[in-house]
Amino acid sequence: SKDLKIAPSILASDFSKLGQEVRDVVDAGADWIHLDVMDGHFVPNITFGPDVIAKLRPHTDKVFDTHLMIAPCDPYLEAFAKAGSDIITVHAEAGPHLDRSLQAIRNLGKKAGVSLNPSTPESVLEYVLDRLDLILVMTVNPGFGGQKFIDAMVEKTRRIKQMIGDRPIDLEIDGGVTPETAPLVANAGANVLVAGSAVFKGGSVESYRGNIEAIRAS
Ligand code: DX5
Ligand code: ZN
Repeated sequence: SKDLKIAPSILASDFSKLGQEVRDVVDAGADWIHLDVMDGHFVPNITFGPDVIAKLRPHTDKVFDTHLMIAPCDPYLEAFAKAGSDIITVHAEAGPHLDRSLQAIRNLGKKAGVSLNPSTPESVLEYVLDRLDLILVMTVNPGFGGQKFIDAMVEKTRRIKQMIGDRPIDLEIDGGVTPETAPLVANAGANVLVAGSAVFKGGSVESYRGNIEAIRAS
């Protein structure tokens, strides 16, 4: 649909020229920029932190969608806010006080998101729905790009869409999104699709444009 947003994950881009990659993917039609922060503790991989995000901030006006795969997250929320994140998403599994983390993000003036690992039931969202601006459904186990989409997450997405009701909450999908899997989750109610390898394959702005259009058209 026209309201569907594509959020390329720069995890799949060339880290030696991140600023250029961000500008290229924006030129190619990206709606948001998805920033995957990994700590080698909550997930078995390490990426980048707030200083890299701050250096990327002048390269585009697009929404910076920061996905924190770190635990604990609370000590770093202010740094990611100051770095220029527009949305800060924490994992429900990353700490014992999700409600507190979400309040802290909003108190920093940012939109607050919750991400759920594939094995985490949607019931964890029940009592925080009114503190949320975004729900991120992981359709792979977090830590790496290029993994296979987990089909059972389509039904989970559908259930979460029902829970959201008429609240103004974005429903985002992350992991294994391709022109084949995108329609499954869009039909289930998702309105933001993260895609890493499916967007950055080809390595040029022309290929990024074709890749984004292929997902949108599907
Ligand atoms: C995985 C990250 C994803 C990842 C998606 O832990 O949260 O954003 O980059 O990559 P693809 O689209 O290649 O599955
Ligand atoms: Zn992500």
